[in-house]
Amino acid sequence: MSAGGPSDGSYSRPMQKHNPSETALKVAHSVLTLSHTGDWNDRLPPRLRQLTEELMIAAKLRRYTPRVIQTARKSWMARMYRWNDLLLPGMFHALGYRKCYINDTALKAIAAGATQVVILGAGFDTLAMRLAPEFAQVHFFEVDHPATAKAKHAAITELGQPDNVHLLSVDLERTKIPQAMAMDKHWQSAAKTLFIAEGLLMYLRHTDVLDLFQQASSCATKGSQIVFSHCLPAWATGTAGTVGRFMVRTVGEPIQSWVNSADLPEYLDSTPWTVVSGVDSDNRHGIERYAVAELLEASSHRPTHPPLGREGWA
Ligand SMILES: C[S@@+](CC[C@H](N)C(=O)[O-])C[C@H]1O[C@@H](n2cnc3c(N)ncnc32)[C@H](O)[C@@H]1O
Repeated sequence: MSAGGPSDGSYSRPMQKHNPSETALKVAHSVLTLSHTGDWNDRLPPRLRQLTEELMIAAKLRRYTPRVIQTARKSWMARMYRWNDLLLPGMFHALGYRKCYINDTALKAIAAGATQVVILGAGFDTLAMRLAPEFAQVHFFEVDHPATAKAKHAAITELGQPDNVHLLSVDLERTKIPQAMAMDKHWQSAAKTLFIAEGLLMYLRHTDVLDLFQQASSCATKGSQIVFSHCLPAWATGTAGTVGRFMVRTVGEPIQSWVNSADLPEYLDSTPWTVVSGVDSDNRHGIERYAVAELLEASSHRPTHPPLGREGWA
């Protein structure tokens, strides 16, 4: 199996603890820029462009002033993101494919009876704000580290928080998913749930990725799903990715785990989740691949992983 994480133990903490996540903001601004490129605005989920821009502006971020945010409309900014593809191959367009894939998976899960959507490490993603008005019977929970959640929450409050969007400011290094969810009175463990881990797992250590799956299963019912993106070993360990990896590491969010799509069933074997999406071999997904796993049966028959301790997401 080609999967794993760094073995030298030298990686720093995955994110800055006091400022909103740099990578979350970069994803939002990059997708906003993509929406002004070619026919991408028609291909991306409806209202993604408008809500991303409104959220970023309402968050009143120090580095992303309204003027900086609006550079997304300029063709030179799209060129800059394409040059960035030299470091993160294919990722300018891949983020668009990723947003579409996650959106489609959420729509399918809701059509199949999911009444809860939990977005882990939500960043400046707009899925909850986009889908909540259309699906009033579904509860959307955004979970993020306090440093990022604070800015996002202020923005959502300013834009008008839908009744079925719930914001959980939680450091998942310290609080497990079941405890975090139990803090919200709208959460129901017995309800069919879709968990979303988009652009998140590669920033966690391998053991913590497995622990995250275990935690999610322990508060979810049969038929619940998790949709996620994961980093490919070829980029995460190859010489071609050296400069790109250095770059994400300098913003305090180093790549810490990777796995090939074909190896996912074995990778997740110790968890109660079964990969139901098949092998993703789509090169348009850049240095990532996407997958959906499902709880095909009640999860209690599986061994539990060691609890997330000081080695958690740090
Ligand atoms: C690369 S961003 C992805 C954002 C979003 N999912 C997207 O794709 O647009 C990673 C997100 O994980 C969150 N995160 C990282 N460590 C965390 C922790 N210990 N607890 C909660 N959230 C965390 C960051 O705040 C950030 O929003």
